Amino acid sequence: MNPPDKQSVTDEAEGLRAKLRHHSHLYYVLDAPELPDAEYDKLFQRLQAIEAEHPDLQTPDSPTLRVGGKVLDGFIKVRHKVPMLSIRTETDITAGGASAFDARVRRELGLAEDAPAIEYICELKFDGLAMNLRYEDGVLVQAATRGDGEVGEDVTQNIRTIQQIPLRLQGDAPPVVEVRGEVYMRRDQFEALNERQREKIAAGQKNEKVFVNPRNAAAGAVRQLDPAIAAARPLSFFAYGLGEVSSPEQGGPDCATQFDWLQQFAAWGFPVATQTQRALGAEALVAFHEAMGRARDGLPYDIDGVVYKVDSLALQRQLGFVSREPRWAVAHKYPAQEQLTEVLAIDIQVGRTGKLTPVAKLAPVFVGGVTVTNATLHNEDEARRKDVRVGDTVIVRRAGDVIPEVVGVVPESLAKPAERRGAIFTMPHKCPVCGSDAVREEGEADYRCTGGLFCGAQRKEAILHFAARRAVEVEGLGDKLVEQLVDANLIRTLPDLYKLGFTTLVGLDRMAEKSAKNIVDALEKSKKTTLNRFLFGLGIRHVGESTAKDLAKHFGKLDAIMDATEEQLLEVNDVGPVVAQSLRTFFDQAHNREVVEQLRACGLHWEEGEPAARTPRPLAGKTFVITGTLPTLGRDEAKDKLEAAGAKVSGSVSKKTTFVVAGAEAGSKLDKARELGVEVIDEARMLVLLAKPD
Ligand code: IVH
Repeated sequence: MNPPDKQSVTDEAEGLRAKLRHHSHLYYVLDAPELPDAEYDKLFQRLQAIEAEHPDLQTPDSPTLRVGGKVLDGFIKVRHKVPMLSIRTETDITAGGASAFDARVRRELGLAEDAPAIEYICELKFDGLAMNLRYEDGVLVQAATRGDGEVGEDVTQNIRTIQQIPLRLQGDAPPVVEVRGEVYMRRDQFEALNERQREKIAAGQKNEKVFVNPRNAAAGAVRQLDPAIAAARPLSFFAYGLGEVSSPEQGGPDCATQFDWLQQFAAWGFPVATQTQRALGAEALVAFHEAMGRARDGLPYDIDGVVYKVDSLALQRQLGFVSREPRWAVAHKYPAQEQLTEVLAIDIQVGRTGKLTPVAKLAPVFVGGVTVTNATLHNEDEARRKDVRVGDTVIVRRAGDVIPEVVGVVPESLAKPAERRGAIFTMPHKCPVCGSDAVREEGEADYRCTGGLFCGAQRKEAILHFAARRAVEVEGLGDKLVEQLVDANLIRTLPDLYKLGFTTLVGLDRMAEKSAKNIVDALEKSKKTTLNRFLFGLGIRHVGESTAKDLAKHFGKLDAIMDATEEQLLEVNDVGPVVAQSLRTFFDQAHNREVVEQLRACGLHWEEGEPAARTPRPLAGKTFVITGTLPTLGRDEAKDKLEAAGAKVSGSVSKKTTFVVAGAEAGSKLDKARELGVEVIDEARMLVLLAKPD
């Protein structure tokens, strides 16, 4: 077959770009995808392949440019062709603010009292950062931040990674148009990003940080010098304004109102907020402010107010500007989502899964529309990193339905001499609810209570887990009933389940005789179980169904499992150090053993077996770190093999590391190993060790 001629490749690339543009608009802007993701990926990869082979065919509007380019040294300054103005803020945050604005506009236009109402456009005031997007002949050529309004920074590379921003305008495009709007981060994306950041910090990555709010996170992403990092921090966009634009005579759109422009933006492919509304007169402005105030918490992104704009562009021109603010627009704010208050105490909350969370008790403060008295500090590292102490003044944030959090301590409190501040926060090593040990596993950010079924905070969850179909199975014992039983204090620990009689059950709200009888029967039936179901039912962290089976098979008897040392536990197929430690901690708690004994005394029984033949664990006690690309094994494969042989595989090199297995392009871990004098081996040597450890 002849190689395809250049023209047909050019045509194919253009066709692919058009298709990808169309489907990405459906997906990211209209939220109405028509193509399965895998199909989209195929088209995308085909275009990438063509452009890799023929770099001259890559156009500046190619969707392949969205994935990020080379790392920049800094940003180039850009002088805005039309200055980016700011908006006057109406200080009266009650409905009166809207009326005051309307009255001012009417006065400045010299309107008589009985003149007709003014037509406005009501928009949301997005809490992100303003961006000027310049399109020439329909192609995005430059994206610039607002800067001081006159001069901003060229952030085109990063802005190209925002899927909601068209790289080429749809439909007719003028020779020049600058579309302005807000780049922002959705709240769920922000929470997810911070969660990832906290994990990185917990794993020891020192130069990572947690972002204060979505606006800061968005600003950080936009000003990232590495576009690949920017691309990993998903941003969104809303269009609401205009910079330089070709006149209608030169081919620009002929718009008479702000509303026309918003429709034009949407037609070009930009997201425009659906809440945007036309409003006639002051009363309609007030109604919009109130409606959005109620809707605010339910929006997926932060807004700090609404914006009213005179709709007619002719009237806008007539009104003009004062200093750097147009007279035809005003921002009408809502109560701030961040406020200052004092920390009265730091308490520990225990969640349903046993997670311990430090919570700051605050002097009551009105934030984001509600009075807040508690705010999460997330975990020990976060509390320490922010250095929050009792008596400090802190910034509290509450946005949407997200739990209020302490964002940071004000500099004045941080600067106080140590003796005038409270003690540095330390996490308790006992659960404040049940007194069991609270432990933090390696590489994890959270402390957890090991009390399991014994802990009041985890009681409901523990009972439901025990009674689940795949565990001991008590048919008909669902969440409503468990809730009722626990709340009425009828069940404190699992054995109490078996002390429930018909009379107690039938005395409960909404419990028919028949159902009560069924539960009694189900409880009786559940007493005959198997060792693995029982073990799984105990809800020991990291002990899932299959681990429970492996343990039951390996040890045969429950007492053998309860008394096994970590080394003995490590001999079990698929049991690694994390599981072994978790089992040990669980059975080291006297009250957990007590629960097991009582359950046996209640009549729970199973057939016990003989221990299985021992499998060799030649590498038990040795710790490996794998770095770089190994010649034949994937990293997970190598890890599995090592763990199966009893070794521990860790993510970071320390003095405790026995061997570092280095492959191609091994990086900092190799340097660290050399620095600490840890023995470095290759894959071949590792395979020899697996076969013959000495
Ligand atoms: S219009 C001439 N509309 O608020 C008015 N701005 O202080 C120019 N903003 O920097 C701006 N939502 O970042 C406008 N619907 C909206 C807006 C909005 C948010 C921001 C924008 C600007 C600041 C103005």
